[in-house]
Amino acid sequence: MSTTTRGSWNSKLGFILAASGSAIGLGNIVFFSSNAYQYGGGAFYLPYFFALFVLGLPIMMLEFGLGTMTGKSFPLALRQVSGRKGEFLGWWAIISALFITSYYIALLGWAFGMMLGAFNGLFEPGVTAPFAPFAEPSPEPSAMIFFFDLIASWKTIIFILIIWSLNMLILWRGTSTIEKVVRVFVPLMWLFMICLVIRGATLEGGFNGIMYLFTPDFSGIADPTVWKGAFSQMFFSLSLGLGTMTAYASYLPKDSDQINNSMLVSFLNCGFEFIAGLAIFSILFVFALNPAGTTLSLSFFVIPQGIGAISEYAWVVKIIGFAFFLLLVVAGLTSSISLIEGPASALIDKLKISRAKALAMIAIPGFIGSILFGLPTIVDPDLINNGTLGLNLLDITDHWVFGYALLVVGFVQTVLMGWVLGADKLRAALNKHSKIKLGKWYEILIKFIAPALLLGIIVLSLLQEEGLYGHDFELAGMNWLAIFIPIFWLVVSIGGAAYLTTRE
Ligand code: TRP
Repeated sequence: MSTTTRGSWNSKLGFILAASGSAIGLGNIVFFSSNAYQYGGGAFYLPYFFALFVLGLPIMMLEFGLGTMTGKSFPLALRQVSGRKGEFLGWWAIISALFITSYYIALLGWAFGMMLGAFNGLFEPGVTAPFAPFAEPSPEPSAMIFFFDLIASWKTIIFILIIWSLNMLILWRGTSTIEKVVRVFVPLMWLFMICLVIRGATLEGGFNGIMYLFTPDFSGIADPTVWKGAFSQMFFSLSLGLGTMTAYASYLPKDSDQINNSMLVSFLNCGFEFIAGLAIFSILFVFALNPAGTTLSLSFFVIPQGIGAISEYAWVVKIIGFAFFLLLVVAGLTSSISLIEGPASALIDKLKISRAKALAMIAIPGFIGSILFGLPTIVDPDLINNGTLGLNLLDITDHWVFGYALLVVGFVQTVLMGWVLGADKLRAALNKHSKIKLGKWYEILIKFIAPALLLGIIVLSLLQEEGLYGHDFELAGMNWLAIFIPIFWLVVSIGGAAYLTTRE
């Protein structure tokens, strides 16, 4: 298949915007803040920077390099350099990406609903949700009750449908439309974020939050869960470990400088994450809000609660609230399109089918998945557990797929590239078109250090699992779900990968 039918970026800027748009998403805005808080603020920083320089940046070079070396999307690119086992890993990553996409889009659907809610009750008293203890109208505005009402309501299906449709629209013509959209969306989300950080930091007391986040604290360093948190955060934030960056890089000319591109995208991403951390921590501290608990509570209850208190003028609150959720939607969209483009380009390359068909193969199961996550009433019609069952499902999926898939792919791909292809060949390919040359250290990193670290952290965290799922979740008589979800994921991803790998 020729490059023109596969797609190609019109300019280097287009690629950088698309790849950084992929990287910057919910991961930077909400997952980062809640991880940083959960793992002790300043204690998170050392593992985080370590993860950036020792894993993130070198592995981004690897994934970009793989894309330009082969001009193919992830599974076939891995096959070209390392044979069938590589292709199998590639499909496993692609199918796992679909699991992540389906709940990522459910989150975006909720963000969309909250965005509309900013002008429609979110910041006003009198909200209710259709189950105890929230059935009585609240005397104060409550983002939490508003949110529970949202996820118990069928209109959420429409919001999720809107987000899926937007994704399909953007992806319909491949790189050319992606490029048009990121040219507008990516600068826009920087602008929103800069406004938010200025507002946060100028609040009286906002600086304390920033201090909490950036005062080094070395007490957590001996705890492997902090390291695992930092590693998976870094992989997710940089969009590594699911073949996304390889697909995007495969649309570049062969002589692209991937060392330079990797540095640009990583620093743009981590710079955004840094600013987002400033904005969110300053707001949290001013209003003495506790972001503990899940990521979901941070983005859907805690931050809006803080925004509700940000000004005495109701219209200011509404506009800031609207802008915050619009930021989530815009940043999330430029990421979700990449989560879908990876699998789409893999299916197009392998099955030689049209883009429309590949997108349909992804969107139909993906939409069903998003609804199951996004609307707990479907799995839990009686809303036992105060409607939190759906949230727990999402959390369990996230725990396994996000917690392990990216790191496992990271581990196996470094082994394949380092040992099967040969780290020397990878380094030579990267250096060939680059101004900055990688030294011998890069080979040592890809062959020994990165895989050893990744394997170590995977094994340690498996050992720390208490049973199949260690959290003290109340699944209301549906405890089988805690076991069903990881098994379902493994069966579908391994079975699907085996099928696609053996198919000619
Ligand atoms: N990086 C995105 C975020 O921070 C999410 C994302 C998009 C992603 N594509 C990916 C994560 C591929 C892992 C792999 O929100």
